[in-house]
This record gives sequence, C-alpha cells and structure tokens, in this order.
Amino acid sequence: MTVDAPTTRPTRAPVAPATGTGRLETASLGQLRLGDGSVLPELVVAYRHDGPPPGAAPQVVVVHALTGSADAAGDWWEPLIGPGRALDTDRVGVLGANLLGGRYGTSGPTSIEARTGRPYGARFPSVSTRDQAAAQWALLDALGIDRVALVVGGSLGGMVALETALARPDAVDHVMPIAAPAATGPLAVAWNHLQLRLIDRLGLDGLSLARQLAMTTYRSEIDFEERFARSREGDGSLSIVSYLEYQGRKLVDRFDPLTYRALTEAMDRHDIGDGRGGSEAALRPLAAGRTRLTSVGIEGDILYGPTQVGGLVDAATAAGVDAHYRELHSTKGHDAFLVEWDQLRGIIDEAFVG
Ligand code: COA
Repeated sequence: MTVDAPTTRPTRAPVAPATGTGRLETASLGQLRLGDGSVLPELVVAYRHDGPPPGAAPQVVVVHALTGSADAAGDWWEPLIGPGRALDTDRVGVLGANLLGGRYGTSGPTSIEARTGRPYGARFPSVSTRDQAAAQWALLDALGIDRVALVVGGSLGGMVALETALARPDAVDHVMPIAAPAATGPLAVAWNHLQLRLIDRLGLDGLSLARQLAMTTYRSEIDFEERFARSREGDGSLSIVSYLEYQGRKLVDRFDPLTYRALTEAMDRHDIGDGRGGSEAALRPLAAGRTRLTSVGIEGDILYGPTQVGGLVDAATAAGVDAHYRELHSTKGHDAFLVEWDQLRGIIDEAFVG
C-alpha cells in the first residue's frame, strides 16, 4: 500500500461554506489526492455544523460509523449534542461530516462523476481512513476551523478520528476513538470478507444478508438472550430471525452495495502504523503535539473489544502520549456507542474538564 499523505488542492475560488446553521450543507472543496496516488477531481463533503463559529468557541468534530451520516446532531448522536447536552452547542461548535466514500452527500460511489455525467459506481477510487481524514481536514480548512478541541467517533468513526488527529497533531487537543483499534484485526476482516462476498454474489439480497451478519457482531449473546430468547412472531418465525431480516430490509431501503463495499474496505485497510514504522511510532506525533488520547472500549464488544482498544492505549503510552482508557459497561456489545447515553455523557464531560 502506498502511504503518501493525501493532499487537497482547490480547483476554484473558494466560497466560504457556512457554520452554525444546524442544517445539512454541502461544500465543494476541489481536488483530493488520495494516499494511493489517485486523484478525485472534485471533492464534495456534506456536513452539519451547530453552535458558535470557529474563533468564538472551541470546535468539536464528531465522526460517524459505517452507514451513518453527517447528521450526528439531529439523528444518531442527538442525545449528546445540543444546548445543555454533553456537547453543548451554546458553548462549543459541533461539526459532523459524511465520510469520503459515503452516500449521504459526500463524494462516493453514488455521486455523479463530472467526466461522464453518471454515478461513479465501481469506478470510485479505493479510499482509506487516512483519505477520509484528509477529506475532513479539507472541510475544516474551508470552514476556518484551524484548531479542534475534540475529535470523537465510534467504530469506523473512531478510526477516522484517530487518523484526523495523526494528520495534524498540532491542531487537535483531544482525540477520543470509541470501540476502534489501531489496526483492524483479523476477526473483523473475516466478517467483512464474508459480508462483501455475499454482496458480490447476491447484490441487494447480499447487502441485506451482510447487514444481518453484521448486526450479529454489533450486539451480544446476552442482549439477544434478553430481548429474543426463544420467542416467536405471529407467523411462527423466531423473533431473532424476524429482527435480523427487518434490519436487513431497512438497510437495503437506505443504502447501496457499492457504498457498503467502499466503507467496509476502508475499515479493512485501517492500520495507523502502516508506512509509519508501526503503531507506537505512528502515535509519537501526538505526544509531540500534546494531543490527549482517550480510548473507549466496550465490555463484550466482539468486533473491536477492550483488548484491542487497550492495546492502542498501551502503544500510545509507550509513545509518550497522555493516553487514557475508559470503558462502557453494557450488554449491548459494539452498538453501545449508539445507545449508552449516560455513560457517554460522563466520558465526554470528563474529556472537557481535563
Ligand atoms: N422483528 C422485526 N422487527 C423488530 C423486532 C422483531 N422481532 N424486534 C425489534 N424490531 C424492530 C423495531 O420495531 C425497531 O424498528 P424501527 O427501527 O423501524 O423503529 C427496530 O427493530 C429497533 O432496532 P433495535 O436494534 O432494537 O434498536 P436499538 O434502539 O436497540 O438500537 C441502533 C438502535 C441504531 C443502535 C440499531 O438499530 C442499529 O442500527 N444498529 C446498527 C448500528 C450500526 O450500523 N453500527 C455500525 C457500527 S460499524
């Protein structure tokens, strides 16, 4: 893998995108050179910014997971963002952006390629978590955010949060990856492999099955036992099967196979130490930049569990980073970062008071 730092180059006079609107916005950010040397001619990023603008208050970046969107404040992290909430938009600006390769407004396989006037489809370049971090920085630059008080995200969002801090450690005060490792481990790659093969062979049916398989990795034995046990639906089917099939249909209604592939492969490629001499060496710039790291593990997470998250903290500590481990105690498994609001609130509060 080539590991050149991704770079951006504006191809037109920049029109300053808006902050503080609390609405989904779109910014055209010019050319993005990806880490593998390929070039995306026109990067577009969908984002939502709530609260005070840069210069008036600290700025926080919240990064979404696999199938999420820029709408952290209105949707998937809504209980944590807003006036009086953990990320208090009376006091801090909060930015969420759809990841590069995504399908909610940022350049990805479903976007129109200017050269052909048709969606990129499978021609969309392969992206990595480093490229996704570079796309975020292109947006931050355009918004005039030159300092980030906290960058936080779960799962794929945590991987991109890490790479966002590693791209510019001098500009990030605190990074908080939740349920995210330094490098995607073999078990996660194995599950991703099966999901992608299902998609290859079965198209939309494969996407549904991939989601169903993924849902079994996002939860836990105890969660499924408590919620479903051996219960059955009116038609006689086991409730757990009905639940999985429902979740599969729900994703097919809002997502597409090529985007799922692009984002899953970005997760597979994630390895902060690749081309940087290993994880510990990769993390040293955080020590030099005085960037704090709080890594949050989730009890019972079978995807990126406490051992992997703790390994990131150990590597960071060895690298001289002010690094801390926190844990969400939950029966929910990996999805705890999307449901355990009280515990998340406590960890974010602690991050802000130091
Ligand atoms: N049969 C059919 N449907 C069922 C069911 C059953 N036996 N039991 C529950 N459901 C449906 C509910 O009606 C509800 O439908 P709705 O979403 O249309 O309202 C849905 O399942 C509830 O899902 P559930 O998983 O129970 O919700 P939750 O509140 O526990 O968790 C999320 C919410 C968002 C975390 C979860 O739904 C989800 O999407 N998880 C995946 C997140 C993800 O992508 N993580 C990626 C990490 S990389």
